[in-house]
Amino acid sequence: MIRVKVPATTANIGPGFDSLGIALQLYNIIEVEEINFGLEINVPVEDQKYIESNEHNLVYQAMKQLFDAVNIHPQGLRINLINNIPLARGLGSSAACIAGGLVAANKLLNDPLKKEEIMYLAATMDGHTDNILPALVGGLTVGCLLENEVKYVKMNLPPQLKLLAIIPDFHFSTKKARSLLPQNVPVEDAVFNISRVGLLVASLVTAHFENLSEATKDKIHQPYRKDFIPNWEEITSKLIKIGVKGCFLSGSGPTIMGILDGDYKNIENEMVKFLSHLEQRYKVTVLDVCNQGLEVL
Ligand code: HSE
Repeated sequence: MIRVKVPATTANIGPGFDSLGIALQLYNIIEVEEINFGLEINVPVEDQKYIESNEHNLVYQAMKQLFDAVNIHPQGLRINLINNIPLARGLGSSAACIAGGLVAANKLLNDPLKKEEIMYLAATMDGHTDNILPALVGGLTVGCLLENEVKYVKMNLPPQLKLLAIIPDFHFSTKKARSLLPQNVPVEDAVFNISRVGLLVASLVTAHFENLSEATKDKIHQPYRKDFIPNWEEITSKLIKIGVKGCFLSGSGPTIMGILDGDYKNIENEMVKFLSHLEQRYKVTVLDVCNQGLEVL
């Protein structure tokens, strides 16, 4: 039996739309084994309403991509999913299925593909690199999806950096969130984001956290998505007021992230109190950065 432990991820980090991502210490486990025939997919009971247990299942789809790519097909397959990453909340649950499925399939066939080839297949399946790369390699990643390959750099983040995830109790699909974006962006908005991406990456890896409230600002996707994120203005203003270093929409949302540095207990408690007065229900959780990425157990 192959067991793969794959982390949740937060993408974009504000200005780095479709490029920047961070891996988090919150994991799904994917178990796969070859059986004599058929396809058996075991989905946790609480997820059965949302996750298919047939050939449309995303983990299976990713595995099939790899089997097709190398033209080796197991007789039958059993897949067990142990899910901790909340679904459709901007925490990389789809990327975890894709990255985990591809790596598990590769292991099952004794590693016919190289890491870079898996990376490319995964990024192509997901459509962008910003969840796939940190899921695979961990840390903070900067990635570009080219025609035939992925170019990327992975950086480890300092351990005192943590993310405060404010997770609303509803699903928001990436497809819907992407449909809200305009076809073109003004040059001044592009320049606004480019300068902040540079500042953000440099500040994160050198622990210049004092720059992050400016460096996490974005004009390319958050302004178009925020109306669909309940209490966006109140929550982001409150986060900055109580001392988070920066905040952003996690991936395509609806989770909102605050960046924490060191002592965070007061910030977490204050935020829980603040959110309890709102009509929308939220789960608040502090997540460590995962510098390691996906592991085959
Ligand atoms: N960069 C993607 C987006 C992430 O914002 O649409 C999707 O999880």
